[in-house]
Amino acid sequence: MKNKSLVSINDYSKDEQLKILELAKEFEKNPVQNILQDHVIASLFFEPSTRTRLSFESAVNRLGGKIVGFSEASNTSVKKGESLRDTILTIANYSDLIVMRNPIEGSARFASEISPVPIINAGDGANQHPTQTLLDLYSILKTQGTLDNLNVAMVGDLKYGRTIHSLVIALCNFNTTFHLVSPVELKLPSSVKMHIKERKLTYHQYTDMEEVIPNADILYMTRIQRERFSDPLEYERIKNAYNLDVSMIKNTKEDFKVLHPLPRVNEININVDVNPKAYYFEQALNGVFVRQALIASILGIR
Ligand code: CP
Repeated sequence: MKNKSLVSINDYSKDEQLKILELAKEFEKNPVQNILQDHVIASLFFEPSTRTRLSFESAVNRLGGKIVGFSEASNTSVKKGESLRDTILTIANYSDLIVMRNPIEGSARFASEISPVPIINAGDGANQHPTQTLLDLYSILKTQGTLDNLNVAMVGDLKYGRTIHSLVIALCNFNTTFHLVSPVELKLPSSVKMHIKERKLTYHQYTDMEEVIPNADILYMTRIQRERFSDPLEYERIKNAYNLDVSMIKNTKEDFKVLHPLPRVNEININVDVNPKAYYFEQALNGVFVRQALIASILGIR
């Protein structure tokens, strides 16, 4: 994986993804190491983030590396009209690897095609969020002991949810049965369903969340994303479509876990947080180890 950009989840083969998860296990046991002391990582966030940006920064800091970058483009020469091309070509001079989140779909692919240093896509609009997927796979593996033959229920904004798109594509490698729960307006796009069909896997679509819970191994909740709606009235109409309450997860499988990429708004009641089946904050922690593994692999250190 040395020098290999990660833009879409299937830029990395199943074996490469599993190698990252294996390495993440080692970093989880030993997260503080001085292996990046000669490296500078650029962190370019053109769109807000808490977990992705800060877990990348935490990952690099714990490995002794340096981070340069910005958390909002309004303080950079983008404000003066500088193009993404010129921004990337300039920052590639200052760093060994660029992590970028950008609201424009395809921007990370474009950056990877012109950049002399590898690019990690930290989310490009409603398209993909491959590093989130690696930490989701890691979280599923840790809690289920396997990635194979699971019933995975995905709830919320399946249309614009980039974490959903990347995760569905990755889980197609593991004989997953998909239970897709969304308002009719926010169904999984056909372009993503195509991956399920190509693998001859099964998916079921629902609008009601409660019926999928008893049979699920993983309940992957997502936020209805206000920022993806062009019509604010449509957002207002469906923003409260789902609200998971602790009473709804009483009768679940033994290893059942609730995941969420976060941030949440009100789709998971806080009364779920203290239930042992809630795993979303541990999931966010797993992001540090997975991102350490990814950076060390791309830089050819591990
Ligand atoms: N999961 C995720 O991408 O969270 P942030 O938007 O806070 O980075």
